[in-house]
Amino acid sequence: MNREQMSRIAHSGHPIKAPLDDASVRRLLERGTPRGDERLLDLGCGSAEWLLRALATGPQLHAVGVDISDDALTQAREAADRRGLGERLVLHHGAAADFVSPDPFDLVLSVGAAHAFGGLLPTLAAARAHLAPGGQVLIGDGFWEHPPSPEAVEMLGDFTDLASTVDRVVADGWTPVHGHVSSRQELDAYEWACWGTLAAWGLDRPTDPDGPRALAMAATRRSEWLRSYRDTWGFVTLLLRRTAD
Ligand SMILES: C[S@@+](CC[C@H](N)C(=O)[O-])C[C@H]1O[C@@H](n2cnc3c(N)ncnc32)[C@H](O)[C@@H]1O
Repeated sequence: MNREQMSRIAHSGHPIKAPLDDASVRRLLERGTPRGDERLLDLGCGSAEWLLRALATGPQLHAVGVDISDDALTQAREAADRRGLGERLVLHHGAAADFVSPDPFDLVLSVGAAHAFGGLLPTLAAARAHLAPGGQVLIGDGFWEHPPSPEAVEMLGDFTDLASTVDRVVADGWTPVHGHVSSRQELDAYEWACWGTLAAWGLDRPTDPDGPRALAMAATRRSEWLRSYRDTWGFVTLLLRRTAD
């Protein structure tokens, strides 16, 4: 079993691959699509769960998702067809930084995928290149709630605190018009969903060589979370408009 298959199992109980619950996702999408006929682009869409939820509640919306993972895009296509949303969803396989489109987008999303661009500000620069006049960006990224250990930085990357994160975004020419800081419950629910689901999958397959592997991976990741970053890492999702231009 490769890394992508392991990730697919781990996320099967939490298809949004970020620490937000269903109500938070719904609220952010509602704010991001005030007219109801927007064109959406998701850079690093994964299995396109954000787009599928938007399309399901907005019958006039159209969406494009980009991801580097073949497995995630296959899952997205299957889910779109199963949910009757396939005609309004276009999926592109490739690096999000290389994606080009002749038409701009009203809402550009990138949640938990800033590493694809080398950080928060490069992700915003990429989103801006695709943005229609008056459009909005929905971006989700980590921050340090408390000073991290060197292991946590090694594991998750080099973030700043929440206020400094927002300051950097504002200094880059954006104004937050809405935002969501993941609660302790959302952060914990996400980790338990991933590593609990993977562990259960492993326990159910004691004679399959992948069973013990999945169980060992779940134990490692659960321990890394509890010991290295649970007390210091947070996640913020910002809805942004350009301040001027
Ligand atoms: C944590 S997941 C988030 C998925 C989705 N945004 C969500 O919230 O459910 C990060 C995604 O970024 C994708 N990714 C990583 N590097 C990428 C790249 N260079 N170009 C496009 N996608 C990339 C991964 O394949 C993965 O699907």
